[in-house]
Amino acid sequence: MTDFVPTPSVAAPDIVRCAYMEIVVTDLARSRAFYVDVLGLHVTEEDENNIYLRSLEEFIHHNLVLRKGPIAAVAAFAYRVKSPAEVDAAEAYYKELGCRTERRTEGFTKGIGDSVRVEDPLGFPYEFFYNVEHVERLTQRYDLYSAGELVRLDHFNQVTPDVPKGRKYLEDLGFRVSEDIQDSDGVTYAVWMHRKQTVHDTALTGGNGPRMHHIAFATHEKHNIIQICDKMGALRISDRIERGPAGTVSPTRSTSTSWTPTATASRSTPRTTTPATPTTPSSPGTSTTTSAATGGATPWSRPGTPRPPWSWTSTATRSPSSCVRKRAKWRSPWVPTASPTPAKQKEKAPAPLNRKRASSSGRSCSHAGCEDD
Ligand SMILES: [Fe+2]
Repeated sequence: MTDFVPTPSVAAPDIVRCAYMEIVVTDLARSRAFYVDVLGLHVTEEDENNIYLRSLEEFIHHNLVLRKGPIAAVAAFAYRVKSPAEVDAAEAYYKELGCRTERRTEGFTKGIGDSVRVEDPLGFPYEFFYNVEHVERLTQRYDLYSAGELVRLDHFNQVTPDVPKGRKYLEDLGFRVSEDIQDSDGVTYAVWMHRKQTVHDTALTGGNGPRMHHIAFATHEKHNIIQICDKMGALRISDRIERGPAGTVSPTRSTSTSWTPTATASRSTPRTTTPATPTTPSSPGTSTTTSAATGGATPWSRPGTPRPPWSWTSTATRSPSSCVRKRAKWRSPWVPTASPTPAKQKEKAPAPLNRKRASSSGRSCSHAGCEDD
């Protein structure tokens, strides 16, 4: 039986939207080559250890931070809240849940002010902030617009072993369900949840976790995604594309759980995963999205260059036929003294799936028809 996260007595913070992700990368130059040269994200600023990137229409300092570190990982899933007081609310909310919290009035990254980071009940590193440096929105910089332009951050996707538990926790936090998938027993296997007025801000997918599945950026039109595919084909990295519907994009090269050390784990990847990507077409009225891995690079982009192993931090194999990648040992970047907690969890079979839309939402979904956004 699911061990649900208790509902705090204090009000949940008023979240506006997913705002940025900070990831730790082992090779900053290779990561820059992927996110800037291939995907075309725009550099707000950079130094020898950090690169701050944003999408074309963004007006806050960044949507993605690449921070150089020893082991690839996610440092924060960051959400903007409605007012400065909501940062206080977030801190109080997670403290009541007994979660580890850290507040920094100067922020954790450049361009972001007073923030609180928490290790949430599912083990994910969440951040909440309001104050942020505004930068030029590049919407009318047609000289910068590319055929595969990523125009805004769309959503995160998180992997967690107990989706019903995660769904209830996120609903308490103020998220609402756009769509879900249930297995033959009626158990929710995946769920898409939103705060802003798009299909979702984050999604939960059943599997070994906590783990980041992907970060998704929206494009204006479907053909923008096709251009990205063409570009990756020309760079001889087309085998790193996973298409939808019925499977997206993904990453998975690394994934992690917190911005400070917590655990070491052994993980296996249940579904297809490739580092960078295009993804599913949308329903009318929604943007298309492209998801990206947690730090792909293009060292093997030149024809004839041998491909490296699939895992960043471990040996890994990839079956060309099944596209199922097996990952060996995974280590959190901050764990000085390992404490293995590799809960071996049997992946719940997703089929047959009963996907349905939340009747209260009435929203269209950019991943309609997919078995996994
Ligand atoms: Fe997605």
